[in-house]
Amino acid sequence: MNHLISPSILAADFGNLQRDIEMLNKSEGDWIHVDIMDGLFVPNISFGFPVTEVAYKHATKPLDVHLMIVDPDRYIKRFAAAGAAGITVQFEACPNLHRTVQVIKEAGCRAGVAINPHTPVAMLVDIIGELDLVLVMSVNPGFGGQHFIENTYKKVAEVKKLAEANKPNLFIEVDGGVDQNNAGKLFLAGANVLVAGSAVFAAADPSAMISTLKHA
Ligand code: DX5
Ligand code: ZN
Repeated sequence: MNHLISPSILAADFGNLQRDIEMLNKSEGDWIHVDIMDGLFVPNISFGFPVTEVAYKHATKPLDVHLMIVDPDRYIKRFAAAGAAGITVQFEACPNLHRTVQVIKEAGCRAGVAINPHTPVAMLVDIIGELDLVLVMSVNPGFGGQHFIENTYKKVAEVKKLAEANKPNLFIEVDGGVDQNNAGKLFLAGANVLVAGSAVFAAADPSAMISTLKHA
């Protein structure tokens, strides 16, 4: 499968969001990662519908919405209406995950499930066949600019193995601390979508950094 890059606008300049989205439109980036944090599931609050709608208005690429919120079922339809092409919920926030996944699909979106660094890949065994995407968190969710957790490579390889047996075209995404030092190794381990916030937006040339990551 192609190697995709999903730059996270959490690290964009919100005073110049349109400019930054237009840069992403012209770049080799594939999706646009939209991080929603509620101050409950994670200790931080990011942004919600208005910013997502602005991103959708200016983006020519699909919005990859990552819900780091409790009880995400309440908001799936609204994020779909705000322009999400894919919606990823956190495994740890969903007591009825199978139902949540169906709600995402009924809303017309690609269905993703994210697992935190402490959550074993094996927890996905009975749901993997229903999923379009698995997101392996390589930091504890809540903040951009954190240090990449090395155990992620092993987990990505485990997801890859599970996907080969159950869902060959699964998107395997990694999020948190992704940069030019780990991107190639993550692709080798089996990832096919990399999220990058700080690595892209703190780079002197963000568009060039997206290309560097994509071809790592
Ligand atoms: C972290 C978010 C990430 C974040 C990644 O909780 O889910 O998507 O934007 O940022 P970096 O690439 O800076 O670690
Ligand atoms: Zn994210």
